[in-house]
Amino acid sequence: MSIRVSNNTFVLQTEHTSYAFALYDGKYPVHLYYGGKQDCTTLTIPNRYNAFSPYYKEYGMVYSPDCAWTELPLFGNGDFRATALKLRGADGSCVTDFVYDGYEILTGRICPEGLPCADPDQNTQTLALRMLDSVTGCLLIAYYTVFADCDIITRYFRLENAGTASVKIERAMSATLNIPPVDADYVILRGAYPRERYYQREHVAYGMQSICSRRGASSHQFNPFAAVCTHDADEDTGEVYGINFVYSGSYLTEIEKDQNGMIRLQTGLGEENFGYLLERGQTFDCPEAVFTYSADGLNGMSHNFHSFIRAHILPPEPFPTRPIVLNTWEASYFDIDENNLLRFADAAKENGIDMLVMDDGWFGKRDDDTSSLGDWYEHKTKFPTGLASFVDRVKAKGIKFGIWIEPEMVNPDSDLYRAHPDWALAAPGREPLLSRHQMVLDFANPAVIDYLESLFDKTLGALDIDYIKWDMNRNISAAYSPYLPPERQDETQFRYMKGVYRLFRWFGERFPKVMIENCSGGGGRYDLGMMKYSTQIWTSDITDPGLRIPIQHGSTYAYPPCVMSCHVSNSGNLTADPRRLDFAFRTAINGMLGYELHLPDMPDQVKATVREQTALYRTYEEIIKKGRFYRVHNPQTGPYYSYYFVSEDESRILATFLQHKAQEREDVRMAFRADPMARYTDELTGKEYAGAALCEGITFENSTEDYAYRMFLFRKVGESL
Ligand code: DGJ
Repeated sequence: MSIRVSNNTFVLQTEHTSYAFALYDGKYPVHLYYGGKQDCTTLTIPNRYNAFSPYYKEYGMVYSPDCAWTELPLFGNGDFRATALKLRGADGSCVTDFVYDGYEILTGRICPEGLPCADPDQNTQTLALRMLDSVTGCLLIAYYTVFADCDIITRYFRLENAGTASVKIERAMSATLNIPPVDADYVILRGAYPRERYYQREHVAYGMQSICSRRGASSHQFNPFAAVCTHDADEDTGEVYGINFVYSGSYLTEIEKDQNGMIRLQTGLGEENFGYLLERGQTFDCPEAVFTYSADGLNGMSHNFHSFIRAHILPPEPFPTRPIVLNTWEASYFDIDENNLLRFADAAKENGIDMLVMDDGWFGKRDDDTSSLGDWYEHKTKFPTGLASFVDRVKAKGIKFGIWIEPEMVNPDSDLYRAHPDWALAAPGREPLLSRHQMVLDFANPAVIDYLESLFDKTLGALDIDYIKWDMNRNISAAYSPYLPPERQDETQFRYMKGVYRLFRWFGERFPKVMIENCSGGGGRYDLGMMKYSTQIWTSDITDPGLRIPIQHGSTYAYPPCVMSCHVSNSGNLTADPRRLDFAFRTAINGMLGYELHLPDMPDQVKATVREQTALYRTYEEIIKKGRFYRVHNPQTGPYYSYYFVSEDESRILATFLQHKAQEREDVRMAFRADPMARYTDELTGKEYAGAALCEGITFENSTEDYAYRMFLFRKVGESL
C-alpha cells in the first residue's frame, strides 16, 4: 500500500520517499514532510505565525494561511505568497475557503479529461482529496497519484461547480510543494531557438523566481522542468526536488522563498494566459504536474524522471529497434521531388539506414515557406506519378518511409485559408501578426479538427507510412478564437492545447503502427505532454556538434536519452573532415541516431563511414535506449561533456567523453557506479579494470586538439580477485 491515512494524516510512500500532510483542525491540509522514506505517522503540524498574518478567529494567532505550509494555497484568503487557485465568484469576490470534505483511495488513477497523463500500472494508487467552498458551492478534488517504483508523485485538481451561479477560474497551479528552509539552488533549462534547454543553476533568493511560457507552447526559451536542490548538491549527492508539467502550452513555474525561508515550488497554468468560466454543473480539470525527491543528487532526480517517462509517459515502442532515419531537410530543404528522393532511398538502404523521412515541401504548392500549410495533398509537379506509388517504390527498396506534417498551421496563401479565414486565431478588426509567413489554426474550434482528421485520413490513409514528423513552427500571439464567445476568450490557449491533444489521439488510433516524432522548430515543445504521444522529439535545429552538446546535456536533466533525436548533418561541411564527422557521430549517439545530409552525393569514403557508424550504433542502441544515464562533466561549467550509461542488467557501462575544443594538456577523471566486487574488461581496448578502480575513477589525458573523444565499454567479466 503506498497510501495510508490515519488520524487525519495522509502519507504517500514510494520506494525511497515519503510525502505527508495532515488536516489542521480536520479542515485544512497542511504539508508535513517530503523526503527520504520514513514513518510519518507521528508527525504533527507545528504552530506557525508571523505578525501581520491574518488568522481565523477560532484558532487565534497560532494558525494563519500566510504561514502554514498549505497543500492548496488559496488566493484572497490570507496567504500572501503565490497561490494555487484564484476563483472569482458571481458576486465578484475572489475569496474562497475550501475545507476538507473527505477522501478516497483508488486503485489506478483518474485522468484529467482530454489531457495527457501518466499511465498507471498494477501498483499505482491515487488519493482523491475532496474540499468544499461553501459560498461558491464549488467542490475541489485534488488527485495525488503515486508511482512508487519511480519515486514519482503526480497531482492535479478537478473543480466541480455544484453551486447555483457561474464562477471563473483565474489562476490554476496543479501542484504545490513546500520545501523546508534550506540554503538552496534551483536548476532550470533555458534557451532560445535553436539553443534549447541549457542548464542554468542559481541561488534561491528570498522572494519570487519564476519561469514561464506565454507562447502557447512549452517553448524553446524556458522548459517547464525545474528543480530545487541543496546548495551543496552535485550530480551524485545532495537533496533534490524536481517538478515538471504534463502539458505543452503556456505555463508558469514558481519558486518562492517566503519570509520564514520556506520555499514554495509550484507549477501550473498560472493566470496570464489562462482563465476559465465554469458554469453551474460544469467541471474543469487542470493538467497533471509530476514531482520527485532524491537524496542522490541531480543524477538521482534524473533517474526518477527517466524511469517514470519510459514506463508511464511514452507510447509503446513501435518497432523492435528505433529506425535510423535519413531526413531530407538539411540536405535538400524544399528542393525535393520523386526522383531525387528515390536516390535518397537507395543511399539509405545501401548504408545501413532504415528509413527515409520526407520533410517539408511535399504538399500543395510548397516550394518555399510562404505558402500551402493547410493544403495537405500532394504537390503535383514534384510527384507526377502520385504520392502513393512513390511511397510504394521507396518501400519496395526495403526501407521504411516517414512524412512531415505541420497540422496546426495555415499560410494565408493556401486554399484552406482562402476557404476558411475564420479558422485561424486572430483578434477581431486587427491585422494578425505573422511568423514564418504563417498563422495558427483555431484548434479551440472542433470543426477545424474534424476537417483535419478527414483530410489526413484521405491523404495519409492512402500511403504506406511508418512514421510522422509533427512540426509546429510559430507561437501564438493573438490568442483569440473566432469560435469562442467573448466571455470564454481567456480559455483559448487551454482549449487550443486540448484540440492538439485530440488530434494526436486521433493519429494514434487511425495509424496505430506509425511512430510519431515531435518537433517544434527543433525542441520548442520538448515536454511531457508531447512525450505522451511521441516516441522521440527532434532535439534542436542545431546539428553542429559543438553547439549541440550543451542542448543534449541540459535535456537529460528532465528527459531520458531515448527521447532525444540526434542527427549527423553536414553542418559547416563537416563531412569533408573525417575527424569532425566522427565527432558528430560520437555526439549524436547520446540519443537516437539519424542523418540529415545529402547522402546520394556524398563521396564513397563518407558513405563507408556512415555504414560503419550505423553498424556500431546498433551494438550500442539497447544500452542508450534503456540504460541508466549518469552525467559526469558539465559542458556549461567546463570544456568537457562526459556521461555514461549502465545497462539494465548492470553488466555493461558505456561511457563517452567529448571535448569539442583543444585544451591545455591536463588529466581528466571519470568515476563510475560500477560493482566494486567485480572485474571489468573494456571491450574497446581489452584492458582489465577492478570494479573498485572504476568506482574510484579512471584518469586519462585530455586532448590538445579540437574534436577529441574517448569511449569505454566496460563489461563485467567476473568477481574481483
Ligand atoms: C523546423 C524543423 O525543426 C526542421 O527540422 C524542419 O522540419 C523544418 N521545420 C521544415 O520546415
